[in-house]
Parts: sequence; structure tokens; C-alpha cells
Amino acid sequence: MAGGILFDLTRKLLEALVSLAAEELGAAWGLKEEIDKLEKTALTIRAVLRDAEDQRNRNNHQVLLWLKNLKDVLYDVEDLLDEFFCDALRQKIVAGDGKLKKVRLFFSKSNQLAYGLKMAPKVKAIRERLHAIAADRDNFQLSDCPVKTPIEIRERDQTYSFERSEEIIGRDYDKNKIVQLLLESEPKQNVSIVPIIGIAGLGKTTLAKMVFNDEKLGDHFELKMWVCISEKFELKVIVEKVIEAATKTKPERVLQLETLQHHLRDSINRKKYLLVLDDVWNDDPEKWRNLRNLLSGGARGSWIVITTRSELVAEITGTVPHHNLQGLSRSESWSLLKQTAFKEESRESNNSRIEAIGMEIVDQCKGVPLALRAIGKVLYKSTEAEWVKWNKNVHKYLTHEENGIMPILKLSYDHLPSHLKQCFAYCSLVPKGTSFPVLDLIKLWMALGFIQPLSEDEDLEDAGYEYFKYLVWRSFLDCESMDYLGKC
Ligand SMILES: Nc1ncnc2c1ncn2[C@@H]1O[C@H](COP(=O)(O)OP(=O)(O)O)[C@@H](O)[C@H]1O
Ligand SMILES: [Mg+2]
Repeated sequence: MAGGILFDLTRKLLEALVSLAAEELGAAWGLKEEIDKLEKTALTIRAVLRDAEDQRNRNNHQVLLWLKNLKDVLYDVEDLLDEFFCDALRQKIVAGDGKLKKVRLFFSKSNQLAYGLKMAPKVKAIRERLHAIAADRDNFQLSDCPVKTPIEIRERDQTYSFERSEEIIGRDYDKNKIVQLLLESEPKQNVSIVPIIGIAGLGKTTLAKMVFNDEKLGDHFELKMWVCISEKFELKVIVEKVIEAATKTKPERVLQLETLQHHLRDSINRKKYLLVLDDVWNDDPEKWRNLRNLLSGGARGSWIVITTRSELVAEITGTVPHHNLQGLSRSESWSLLKQTAFKEESRESNNSRIEAIGMEIVDQCKGVPLALRAIGKVLYKSTEAEWVKWNKNVHKYLTHEENGIMPILKLSYDHLPSHLKQCFAYCSLVPKGTSFPVLDLIKLWMALGFIQPLSEDEDLEDAGYEYFKYLVWRSFLDCESMDYLGKC
């Protein structure tokens, strides 16, 4: 992660340095030489950052340390530049939007000199630290990626399409089976529970969504609620989320659990409800019993569908046999890989060699849709040679958890363009399952300077929507509803 973000930070710093140099502020302060040197060093570093990021991803610990030191110095450079710009602003020589105006020097000559003398040691010290880091890069044989101009114009892939046509492949049997269960069985207890179990990325959440939205359920349930549990199984938080799903309003944060419990009972009392609890990890029977008691006030025929990776959770929670989700079949897997890796019009084009390689990749993915989609997206618009290369390498990403992150997700993340990495990294600050209007998110990205328009007249908000759509397309974010403009 650090590499992508550092790449962008270096870009911003270079922009600021170029701006300082162009406006001859540095010269006026007698700091031109130091600032030029600083810019050159930053350029050298930026040239190897991509390679450093790759090596970091291969767990090269020395490079990891190098990136950490670099980050510290870059933040100091940022502080120093802020100081310059603040001082310049104070002297009214930059516009309010932070861009430098034509320099009208309000400083007297002697003041400029004094200012330069004050700042020179700071610039020099930072430049020397940065220089030492740049020199260090030779120790790791980091290779340069050519940087054509000091400020790179980022190119966005204009040809990808954000397809709602990314259909769900298969799963009709599973969906129908669960829907039938919810509709037809005559349960002994008021509220019954069916767990859907399977490894990460197998499609449990997707299946639960298909069930939840199935037309056959129509108005069979008086109340339908979807709650994402994920990380912590904290009763108060879950109760708040269920109340919100039932009433479509957030309960006040200050309310105590006791009051919330009353609210919850009121909202579901004697109603036939369907509740999905997505991604349950808790296997503490006591905690589960507390929640179940609170939810037991529904009318007969109410159902809770749970998705979980854990057999134990399924054992503790289920009141009927759990639904063991299987991988997609070979042909379904190939359809999914094709759907993701090819543009719509070329999906049916028959390149038998690519198909043969594709089937070998499919066999390694063991029917796990997450893996198939992640690899498909990396292979998007790839040549046959790249298919061959990925076929050889793909096994590395299909092992199980490593440092808590599934390698297959890391593969997706590593292939994200750096400007999107920082946007996504920012989203990771909010808990999984949180939903908010996409425009709010885009405005935050804009405020943080994460969005760069492709041209002067591209609207920042539009560029933000493109970022968002790309992150949805790559399955990093999810989008609940979309209007006819393709906006959420
Ligand atoms: N049957 C399917 N067809 C196409 N894509 C699928 C299918 N099942 C899951 N996916 C995709 O695979 C990814 C992981 O699915 P998800 O339901 O989140 O898995 P889980 O909940 O088991 O971890 C998602 O991007 C989802 O859209
Ligand atoms: Mg899930």
C-alpha cells in the first residue's frame, strides 16, 4: 500500500517544487539551487518507486524499511513546502486556491535574503536525507521506470466498461432450494435459522442476496432486513443495525442496550420477518443465545439466514441443516473467467489456445468466484503470452490466508493503479458494510486531493465517479442502487 500512496505523494511534492521553481520564488529567496537539487532527487526516487512497491509486495523486508524511511522524509518535505506556501500566502503572493500568482514581491530585498538564510539549512538537511535514501536504492537494485516529464499525466483506461451485465453465473439450484425452504417448511419454532457455509469468496453473500431479492418471496415476509456483521459480534452494535434495517432510521447513539432491546422487540414483534446476518464469525454460544432471544419475538414462519465460513458457527446457530455451498462447475467457472477477462463483444471469439490455458487456470481456482473474477480482471485485455504467464503464477495467489489477507485479494489490490489505491485505502477506515451516498465519498476524495482530472475541463466530480465505478468494477466497493446516468 505504502508504495502506491508514496508514488502519489511524491507526484504532489514534485508539482509543488516545480511550481516554486517556475515562479522564481526559490530564486528570490536564494534557495533556487537547493530546491532544484531537491526536485532532482525526488525525481530519481519516484522513478524507482513502482519497482520498490513490487518488491515490497514480495515481502522484501529491506525495501519495506527503505519505503518507511522514505515516507518519513517525504512527510517532512511536505511540511516544509507547506511552510513555504504559507509564508508566500501571508505575503499575498499566492492566490487563495493555493496556486502561485505572478510573483509580486512584497518582501523587501533584505527580507527575502533573511528568509532565504533562515530556510536554507532546513532545505539542505531534508535534501541530504532524501539524497541518502535515493543513494540507498542502488543497494536493492531497484530498476527505473522511465519518467517522461517531471509531472506525469495520468492516463485512465477509458475502454473498460462498468457492466451491470456482470451477471451471476449459476447458483439457481442453491437459490431455489433456500427460497423453497423459507416458503414451504412448517417450522416448529417461531424463528428458524439456516446457515450458508463456505470458504471465503465462494459466493455466500451473493447467494444470500439472490435469495433476499427473489421475487417468489414477494410479500411473504412482512419485514425484510439485511445486516452485515463481519468483524465484531457486539450485541449493542448488532441490535442497532437490526433496528436500522427494520425501521430505516438509525437509532440514537446514546441509547443504552436496554432501551435498544425494547426498540428491537417493538420493531419485529409478531411480524413475519426475514433477516440476513451476513458474515458471522462469532462462535461463542452465550453471545449468540443473547441475540437469538432478542430476535425470537417474530411471528411463526420468520427466518434468519446466516452466512459464515465457520462450521462451528453453523453448528451453534442453525435450527435446520446448513446449506453447504459448493464451488462453481468447470463450465460455469470458464464462463465467469471469460465474462471478466474479455470485453463483451469478444467473449465468444474462439481462440482455442487461450481457452486451453483458461481451463487450466479455471482448474486451479477450484470454482471460487472471487478468485476467478480477480484473475479475470488482471487478465483483462491481456495477450496470449500474459495468459501463459499467469497460468504459471496463479497458484501463488490461491493458497489460504497469509498475514490475514487472502493473497488473491492482495493480487487485486496490487494491480490497482496507485491513485485508486489511496482512494480505496481511505475507504478502509470505515467498517465493512457501512453504506453512504457515493457523492459524499467523492467529495471527501476531492477534499483530500486524491482526484486528478485527465484534462483541464474534466469535472472533478465526474472524475470521482469514474474512480468509484472502477473500484466497483474491481469488486473493491459495492453499489446498492444506480440511476440512469450510472450514478449511485
Ligand atoms: N455465481 C457467481 N457468479 C459471478 N460472480 C460471483 C458469483 N458468486 C460470487 N461472485 C463474485 O465473487 C466475489 C465474492 O463473492 P461473495 O458473495 O462476496 O463471497 P463470500 O461471501 O462467500 O465471501 C464477489 O465479487 C461476487 O460478485
Ligand atoms: Mg461474504
